[in-house]
Amino acid sequence: TGRFTYDPGFTSTASCESHITYIDGDEGVLLYRGYPIEQLAEHGDFLETCYLLLYGQLPTAAEKADFVNRVTYHTMIHEQMSRFFSGFRRDAHPMAVMVGVVGALSAFYHDSTDISDPQQRMIASLRMIAKMPTIAAMAYKYHVGQPFIYPRNEYDYASNFLHMCFAVPCEEYKVNPILARAMDRIFTLHADHEQNASTSTVRLAGSSGANPFACIAAGIACLWGPAHGGANEAALNMLQQIGTVDRIPEFIARAKDKNDPFRLMGFGHRVYKNYDPRARIMQKTCHEVLGELGHKDDPLLQVALELERIALSDDYFVEKKLYPNIDFYSGITLRALGFPTTMFTVLFALARTVGWISQWNEMVEDPSQRIGRPRQLYTGASTRDYVPITQRR
Ligand code: CMC
Repeated sequence: TGRFTYDPGFTSTASCESHITYIDGDEGVLLYRGYPIEQLAEHGDFLETCYLLLYGQLPTAAEKADFVNRVTYHTMIHEQMSRFFSGFRRDAHPMAVMVGVVGALSAFYHDSTDISDPQQRMIASLRMIAKMPTIAAMAYKYHVGQPFIYPRNEYDYASNFLHMCFAVPCEEYKVNPILARAMDRIFTLHADHEQNASTSTVRLAGSSGANPFACIAAGIACLWGPAHGGANEAALNMLQQIGTVDRIPEFIARAKDKNDPFRLMGFGHRVYKNYDPRARIMQKTCHEVLGELGHKDDPLLQVALELERIALSDDYFVEKKLYPNIDFYSGITLRALGFPTTMFTVLFALARTVGWISQWNEMVEDPSQRIGRPRQLYTGASTRDYVPITQRR
């Protein structure tokens, strides 16, 4: 047993070298390729961030126009894929649909499964970034029982997504630019986050040489859990369960009780031992969206703000360095934008796809790359002889 270092939850093991994302959890810093998340969210847009994550630098105007063109070219999915959706039960969770449909992309785009060809790897990457909004919107439409809406390539990325989700045939639908900007910023905030569980899953799956669509499907499956991407859904459910400001102390007490499994969802983070920088921008975006929609007095926002205030002045949360994370305010914002809670993690997956695929590319291009093969500390039975079934007791 002494041969391997045991590090449950990988709290102190680096699994790779990476140039993509930097987090300083103590200081609450998040950089994509060296650029602070605050600046990218404020001044940039999601597709620019995609370019940055994929290629390592911000695009010039010409490079950006070309990139937007190339992504836009791939927004449609094969028509046969739309029939794939109807194989799912109507009440299927949209994340289950996402795992299945995204994994099935490898059955439709065979050319993109040749990972030894850098050009094919880039086409696969663009296809993923371009098709995720289409697939996510179709998962939503299937969920609510409405006809699919095809991509409109004259729209920007976020507007096109909102249109595919909320337009219905034969009715005028105009995308609100303030809400589209908020959606775009939410995508930027979720675009990458170094070696979190789902990204590590994508890298581990990819280390065997699996095709990129299969790897991203593995990432989506991992993201689904409530301790990871599912936390925004769980956080909103929790705020709804609390319901009114006067019930907050009861829930704070439960979160502190060692014998109660309840946790404050949207609070705490493995890496951030300070305010999650994304949570600050998300809180601002939340105010903007609620303001635009005339929901400024949303009771859930009041609960969230008060919950944050009480928790941040409570010794338990201060000592354990538990601060709001990105999921704390994203649920209220996404709900205001019109999404049901079951879609929240789908939106996270859509946005994180560029991070996953950038990390996957980096791994495939790394000459020191070998198949990921963790070892274990075996704690089972020592050697023993087979006993015929008639002699077992
Ligand atoms: N509420 C109450 N207590 C908490 C919470 C919380 N949200 N989070 C951590 N703690 C306590 C925990 O009980 C433990 O106490 P003790 O040391 O006395 O046993 C201590 O803080 C450390 O917790 P941990 O579970 O060992 O920490 P971790 O790094 O393994 O877990 C986490 C990180 C994010 C899974 C956890 O904080 C959590 O479950 N938070 C709620 C779920 C959530 O919001 N997840 C979203 C994460 S951000 C988005 C993403 O990455 O996908």
